[in-house]
Amino acid sequence: MSIVTTKELLADAKARHYAVAAFNTNNLEYTQAILEAATEMKSPVIIEAAKSEIDYMNGFTFVAMVRTLSDKLPINVAIHLDHGPSYDEAVRCLNYGFTSVMYDGSRLSLDENIRNTQKVVEAAHACGVSVEGEIGVIGQAADSPEGKKGESDALASPVDCERFVKESGVDCFAAAIGNAHGLYTKKPKLDFDRLSDIERRTHVPLVLHGGTGIPLEDIKKAISLGVAKINFSTIMRQGFIETLRKTLEENPGDLDLMKLLTPSKLAMKAIAIQHLKMCGSDGKA
Ligand code: 13P
Repeated sequence: MSIVTTKELLADAKARHYAVAAFNTNNLEYTQAILEAATEMKSPVIIEAAKSEIDYMNGFTFVAMVRTLSDKLPINVAIHLDHGPSYDEAVRCLNYGFTSVMYDGSRLSLDENIRNTQKVVEAAHACGVSVEGEIGVIGQAADSPEGKKGESDALASPVDCERFVKESGVDCFAAAIGNAHGLYTKKPKLDFDRLSDIERRTHVPLVLHGGTGIPLEDIKKAISLGVAKINFSTIMRQGFIETLRKTLEENPGDLDLMKLLTPSKLAMKAIAIQHLKMCGSDGKA
C-alpha cells in the first residue's frame, strides 16, 4: 500500500490489540527478508535503523532502498530511526525521508530529556513525521548497534512517564521495564505492574525494545497492557550469521556471493515470519 508514519501504524495496532514488529536492518538482503516476510504474512511492518546502521548504508540509500522495495506491496511500511542520539541526527533523518524518528534522551536528566525530545517533536511534526521517546534506561545484554554490553538499566518511573508524554508531545515511547537489548542470559523478568501503571497514566502507544528472547506469553501480556510496537534485531542477525557460517563450511570453494547469501536471507525471513505472528500482526495489513 504505502509508506506511512509509525503513528498511523500504532493507532491501528492499539485499536485492534496487536503490535507492529520493528526490525532493524543494515543491508539489502536483510531488508528484502523483512519485506518478503511481511508481505507473505499480510502484515504492517516498521523497518528501522540505528545511527551506526544508517552510517553504514548511507541514509539516502537506505530510504531509497526501502521505498523502492515497498513500492506496490500490499502492506503499510514505516521507515524509522532507532535510538536517535541527538537532535541533529533526527533532523538528518527527516531530510533523508524517514517517516518516524526516535530520540533517545534516556541517559539525561528528565528535564533535559523532555526539552530535547520537545525540540525533535517540533521539527518532526512540522514534516508530518512521528516521534518515539524513551524513559528509563534499556540495558544491554550484549553489544549491539544500539549500545555496548554491560550498560546497566534503570526502570522507568510511571510518574516521570506521565510528565514526559504530557510535556514532550511524543507519539509513542519506550519504557524500560526490565527488558534489554541482545541475547538474555536468563529469562527476562518484565515488570508488568509498572507497564500497566505507565499505560494508565499516558495512554499513548508503548514500545517494547529488546524483543529478542522475550517469550510469547510475555509478548501477549505486554500487548494487552498497551504495547503496540516491538523491536527485534539480534535474533535476525543471529539467524543470518549462523546460516552463513554453515553455508560457507559446506561450500568452501564457492565464490558465488548471491548463492552463498540466499540461505541466510531465507533464514532471516523465517525468523521475521515467526515474530510477526508472535506480535499478532499477521493478516492486519
Ligand atoms: P534486540 O536486539 O534485543 O532484539 O533489541 C532490538 C531493539 O530493541 C532495537 O532498538
